[in-house]
Amino acid sequence: MMLSRTTWKSRSPTSLRSSGRRLASLGMTIVVGLAAPAGAQNSATAKQQAAVASAPAADAPVTFTKNVAPILQQKCQVCHQPNSIAPMSLLTYQDTKDYADEIREYVSNRVMPPWHIDRTVGIHDFKNDRGLSDEQIATLVRWIDTGMPEGRREDMPPPVKFPDPNQWQFAKTLGEPDLVLKSPPYTMAAHTQDKWFRPETETGLTEARWVRAIEIRPIGPDGRKIVHHVLTMLEQKEDMGIMNLASSAHDAQMTPGLFMEWSIGKTGELYGADAGKLMLPGSKIRWEVHMFAVGREVPNQQVEMAIYFYPKGVVPKHRTVLRMFDVSRGSELDIPPNSTAMTQNFYVMPAAARIENFQPHMHMRGKAMSMEAVYPDGKREVLSSVNNFQWKWHVNYVYSEDAAPLLPKGTMLVFTAWHDNTAANPNNPDPNQWVGWGDRTVDEMAHAWVDVTYLDQTEFDSLVEARKAKKAAPKADARVTPSPK
Ligand code: HEC
Repeated sequence: MMLSRTTWKSRSPTSLRSSGRRLASLGMTIVVGLAAPAGAQNSATAKQQAAVASAPAADAPVTFTKNVAPILQQKCQVCHQPNSIAPMSLLTYQDTKDYADEIREYVSNRVMPPWHIDRTVGIHDFKNDRGLSDEQIATLVRWIDTGMPEGRREDMPPPVKFPDPNQWQFAKTLGEPDLVLKSPPYTMAAHTQDKWFRPETETGLTEARWVRAIEIRPIGPDGRKIVHHVLTMLEQKEDMGIMNLASSAHDAQMTPGLFMEWSIGKTGELYGADAGKLMLPGSKIRWEVHMFAVGREVPNQQVEMAIYFYPKGVVPKHRTVLRMFDVSRGSELDIPPNSTAMTQNFYVMPAAARIENFQPHMHMRGKAMSMEAVYPDGKREVLSSVNNFQWKWHVNYVYSEDAAPLLPKGTMLVFTAWHDNTAANPNNPDPNQWVGWGDRTVDEMAHAWVDVTYLDQTEFDSLVEARKAKKAAPKADARVTPSPK
């Protein structure tokens, strides 16, 4: 049932669309987890970045070597290279030319690269932005529409060295993980309903440690084919003394609870420089691994989780809590055949907080989700909106340090989710089915995974002040170094 690379290649764009639907209805999934877009950006040289920034003049010819290759290197090749997760390589002129029609379609619809946020509203400053600018899309489309000239050989940038997909992606910046835990093996039958495997693993910790970053991945190519999501729950005994160690905020959700969520398309979570999660001696991890059958038995599958600690004795100022904001209100989700549906939910922040990221979770009929803030003074603002949701890509949009929303106590977060159960949704396996809430990917759900860092009032005030000052300050750098544009 697996499609070989040649099969992928020989398809026309129209049959590809329907094959995408077929794949989905077979419960197959094509994967990510090692994405490392940041790695790609890091490895792109300054010269390449500059080449990307200097788009061709309106009448200059767009060539592969000069204008297209730098974009592919920076935004595509981390996944589109032999032995990586994408179905085809985009390393060479010939590779790329063979897929011109599909590239034109996928980039103009902003399906590829997987970065599905609405760029016209909300915050645009993310740590892990792998999207294309309008200018980059225009360059790719113009190259295809003008006959795909190769250009001069000497314009071709040197090949980019990408991180090894079998290595932990944060290891490059943080060093090797301090603790790696594996779920017990599970054998997935060839044909069966989706499975939720919920074993427990001892962490083996003998002292309290603060967590700087967490990464989760299914092991091996088979694991990446069958695993849709992984939840890890941290189980440990806490007394209020420890709870108050890093935050003065009181909130029912301040229990250790969810440790990390991973879905197809995500690498891991790296907490702010002043924040982390706390693990105690004797703690356990409870896993929930959601898998689909792929038409052949997949024996002894495991997922693994890498934990990066702060150095011993370092206590970050804040304790980060991963919150699940339910949007669909569970059983209220009711999507008749051939229709669209909207659900909404509201949360009042029990303390001042910094919102670190936005990661919508829906299934095949998921279309869009937004996160808005209604401030205590009544002012209302869209923080982020994913308007082109693709269920195979659970992208975590991580705000940059200077852009992460700072919400005063009493701010209301409004989450809105839209589902499309019509034939217009290319991911819909069957628009004639009624769809309700459920765990299977053909059922629906809607929630957002958001890391919340609670702040005490003094800290909040000083962060707000610092940001104001930064905005007001003249950009000293800009005078010295001319911007690349
Ligand atoms: C994070 C990894 C990743 C990045 C970055 C990425 N892709 Fe992809 N791409 C994939 C995977 C996996 C698939 C197959 C599954 C899917 O369609 O979602 C794919 C599918 C595609 C397809 C459809 C292939 C087919 O057989 O029809 C096109 C076209 C494409 N990508 C183009 C691009 C371009 C152009 C870029 C950069 C501008 C890019 N992708 C960036 C992972 C990626």
